[in-house]
Amino acid sequence: VEALLPVYARVGPRFVAGEGCELVAEDGTRYLDFVAGIAVNALGYGHPAIRRAMIEALEWGLIHTSNLYRTEPGERLAEWLVERSFAASVFFSNSGGEANEGAFKLARRWARRPDGPHANPGKYEVVAFRGSFHGRLFATLAATDRAAYREPFEPLAPGIQIVPLNDASALDSAITPERTAAVIVEPVQGEGGVRAVAPEVLSDLRDRCDRAGAALIFDEVQCGLGRTGSLFAYEQTGVVPDMLTLAKPLAGGLPMGAILINESISAAIKSGDHATTFGGGPFVASVALAVLETLGQPEFLAAVRHKGERLGKLLRDLKAARPRVREVRGRGLMWGIELNEPVAPFVEAARNKNLLICSAGPTVIRLVPPLVITETELERGVGVLREVLA
Ligand SMILES: Cc1ncc(COP(=O)(O)O)c(C=O)c1O
Repeated sequence: VEALLPVYARVGPRFVAGEGCELVAEDGTRYLDFVAGIAVNALGYGHPAIRRAMIEALEWGLIHTSNLYRTEPGERLAEWLVERSFAASVFFSNSGGEANEGAFKLARRWARRPDGPHANPGKYEVVAFRGSFHGRLFATLAATDRAAYREPFEPLAPGIQIVPLNDASALDSAITPERTAAVIVEPVQGEGGVRAVAPEVLSDLRDRCDRAGAALIFDEVQCGLGRTGSLFAYEQTGVVPDMLTLAKPLAGGLPMGAILINESISAAIKSGDHATTFGGGPFVASVALAVLETLGQPEFLAAVRHKGERLGKLLRDLKAARPRVREVRGRGLMWGIELNEPVAPFVEAARNKNLLICSAGPTVIRLVPPLVITETELERGVGVLREVLA
């Protein structure tokens, strides 16, 4: 459609409805959805909790007030997140990229605070890693390791470098008390091919940030909020960040992001340091509360872990049966199937058999189904993959 800027290579049918873990096309064909709006629709389509929250919120007539005034849903949502995490405060944004961009600002403000140990104006750098994806804005793009996304738009924000994760001497020179304000890492890299970062590596980054007076930021935009079987991915790593960013599933498909901020950084931030018109408005926040109250239930998270184990088993069997599969890896309901060849034809072949999957880089199929998926649906989907990868 020419009226849409051609930045997306949209493919396949137009969808008109959704139900559970299926999308329905104009001609009535149903597609089993292992994409979930790119790890957004954690509760699938038409979930009663989301429906109820939206209808109630609409009945108040209060969609937006601006952050000049107080409203209850955003306050309750922030309290919910603070009670269940390391955070002392929360800032709401409208996307994952904005959450990361905001975290960089807060890190700079804190790292070189006048009463802190490194009151040096040159302490503003951000360190990110090979395989990372943090967003498409100028600073988050500078922290994103994808040449094709970056090069047409250079120069990007200065002071941001990308280094290998497992290279001690590169880390020694990149993370310094004089220059580094923040280190940002996805505990499980998403776009970079579904790769969990080893807990020892995260723990090493924690030590380096402590020594350098830099903020350790975990980008859990994709791997957070139940995706890997715990509310936050960091809970499974033994490492606690200084800030953590969220978005994708947070408000059930409405645009919303969040920065979870520890006490020390919260204390360094002043009124006016950061802002956004829409962030944390009463409508989105009401829906987010309904999402979190559903996926934050211990039984819900246990079910994600259980189904994740089942999916892992199905995928290991798939690998054993299909030589074009080089590796399968994942955690909870976030899995990558690395092939020995480009995945694009298989993504299309799966769609032709009514299964939606997406890629994470040229040779990795990414599976991020709704967290409410059933074991039967997982089996059905992997059955299709088996046919397609034959
Ligand atoms: C880990 C991670 N961070 C940040 C982003 C950017 O989020 P958004 O597209 O909402 O700006 C994404 C999006 O895919 C992501 O996967």
